[in-house]
Amino acid sequence: MIDPDSVGVADLEVDPYPIYAHLRQHAPVSHVPALDVWMVTRWADVESALNDPERFPAHVADSPTDDALGGISMMTTDGEPAKQRRRPFDSTLRPRAVEASMPEVFEQLCSDALDILETAGGGDLLTQYFEPISVLSLAHAMGIADRVDGLTLVRWFGGLAAGVSNYEKDPTKTAFCSAVSDEIDDVVRPLFEQAFASPDDSMISNLVHATAGTLDERIAWAMPSLKLVLLGGLQEPAHGGATIAHCLLTHTEQLDAVISDADLVAAAVEEGLRWTAPIGNLLRGVAPGTTLGDAKLPRDARVILVVSSANRDREVWGPTADDFDIFRPRRTHLSFAAGPHYCIGHHFARVQLRTAIRMLFERFPRLRLDPLHEVVYRGHEYRSPTSLAVEVG
Ligand code: HEM
Repeated sequence: MIDPDSVGVADLEVDPYPIYAHLRQHAPVSHVPALDVWMVTRWADVESALNDPERFPAHVADSPTDDALGGISMMTTDGEPAKQRRRPFDSTLRPRAVEASMPEVFEQLCSDALDILETAGGGDLLTQYFEPISVLSLAHAMGIADRVDGLTLVRWFGGLAAGVSNYEKDPTKTAFCSAVSDEIDDVVRPLFEQAFASPDDSMISNLVHATAGTLDERIAWAMPSLKLVLLGGLQEPAHGGATIAHCLLTHTEQLDAVISDADLVAAAVEEGLRWTAPIGNLLRGVAPGTTLGDAKLPRDARVILVVSSANRDREVWGPTADDFDIFRPRRTHLSFAAGPHYCIGHHFARVQLRTAIRMLFERFPRLRLDPLHEVVYRGHEYRSPTSLAVEVG
């Protein structure tokens, strides 16, 4: 019997799934003191809350995300202010735009990383394959690929991520995030200046012309959402890729099926993202008087909508919900959320991951895990293998 009062962060980091299974059954909306949040773990509750911003608003008082990104972004507000901030990214990230401009970029980046792995006879797929593809393809889409290298982007991600999760107001994390933020400002400001003077069809030009005011006012308005896109786009596809590759490498019949029928790659990508959601928890506020299931949520409560738990809910996914199975009947998962904050980069991530998985196993059909390295998953808010050492050839 797991008591929500005794759920600890360390246990969640190691393996949150048994805890979620228990909470879904016995306490589906429960206060977890260790995180000082209400945890919502059943599919039906998570899905309905995501689609109900009136009762579960995205804006949360004293938000570390707003502090870290320098103000309100599309993700921490609702309604028209959120739509205004989201719209400028559409022309780069909507599915048709991604299909038109990104496949060749993804293929080139995959091919370059595969060459390096082949020469080395193997390596860590997380840091030497999925991460470079993820960060460099986003830099390309943002129009900053000629100004920053992959390692800088990974460091930027680290600083922003430290800031948005800094609920405890740790001064070291604050300093790291603020140094990275200044660095990002220095790199992108000249691009804003240029696009302000001569508009083009780039993401930054769309952003600077999406609002009125002086250049400084426009930059201040746009920058939190730009940094949010950096944050969302840098880590999650890489985490998802490592999980999907690991699942295939440990389910060889399914891998063989994927290798002989490339049409199954998309199913493998979706199933891997369902099985372990790269982002497990989505934070929301609570409107006064809100109830969910049997729980009456107190004023100023914070809830986390645990999409990773919803994705394993047996009421929806049946008795095999905990298994990785690319042949399960297709239905949508919640790893890209639902409702007004549905991930704006979902198609970008999907095409990137399908390309990376397909090309990985096309190049190395006999790829195998390095027996000297154990694969360990960590995290509950962000979860993936910590590394994925493989041998090729
Ligand atoms: C497998 C990869 C990815 C996963 C699992 C993922 C997951 C998510 C989730 C769960 C949300 C909802 C957050 C919330 O409602 O609180 C979200 C929002 C968002 N994601 Fe992603 N994401 C991925 C890739 C990307 C990429 C590649 C980008 C950028 C190119 C991106 C940019 C964003 C942005 C800007 C939002 C905020 C949208 C809004 O609030 O309107 N994500 N993502």
